[in-house]
Amino acid sequence: MTGIVQRDADGRNEARDQLFSGNNPFDLTRRWLDEAWQSEPNDANAIALATAGTDGLPNVRMVLLKEIEDGGYVFYTNSQSAKGGELAANGQAAFVMHWKTLGRQVRVRGPVEAVSAAQSDAYFNSRHPQSRAGAIASEQSRPLDSRDRLVEDTRAVRERHDDAPPRPDHWHGYRIMPVEIEFWADGEHRLHDRFRWTREAPQGDWTITRLYP
Ligand SMILES: Cc1cc2nc3c(=O)[nH]c(=O)nc-3n(C[C@H](O)[C@H](O)[C@H](O)COP(=O)(O)O)c2cc1C
Repeated sequence: MTGIVQRDADGRNEARDQLFSGNNPFDLTRRWLDEAWQSEPNDANAIALATAGTDGLPNVRMVLLKEIEDGGYVFYTNSQSAKGGELAANGQAAFVMHWKTLGRQVRVRGPVEAVSAAQSDAYFNSRHPQSRAGAIASEQSRPLDSRDRLVEDTRAVRERHDDAPPRPDHWHGYRIMPVEIEFWADGEHRLHDRFRWTREAPQGDWTITRLYP
């Protein structure tokens, strides 16, 4: 990655210490997440994903961050869900990941696009057949009469597809292509460290700025 501009809040250049080091924020996220997998009891890759539709009212829910690419963060969901509708209306999102065991958080904001069908197929087909059937049977975010109905519909999907249910078009990955990423680490007596990486557009050069906590 080229063209890194690095500055303190007062404009001086400053080398970032080991925890925040490197010139690729996706590598840095991978590094922190790898550490979190060692210490978190479960779901170290859980992110609180925020979206807002045309009414501008923010919405937030947990999803799992499944891939960290050089250029984007990928999660999977039903595009007919509430979040899917919001992303169709306003193709931008933000998320935060927080690891209590490490005292760190990562915040991300940017435009969103669907990943390729091949990429979504690869992930969908890697899931347990029961999870695949459940994803197909679930009309995510819409009213459900009873749990029995979902269980029965899931069973029927499995039966129909001979244990290998194919991915429906409306279930796929989304890639958040960050224009802003912030790395935050707990400091003594609340003197925390924050580094914000920004770029004008996806694929642009990053500017790194230390922020007051
Ligand atoms: C830890 C955790 C991980 C989750 N992961 C996903 C996920 O990867 N994809 C998904 O569609 N929902 C996931 N969910 C469920 C969502 O939080 C949410 O209930 C669902 O996607 C519907 O959200 P919506 O109505 O805002 O679209 C997860 C929930 C939790 C608590």
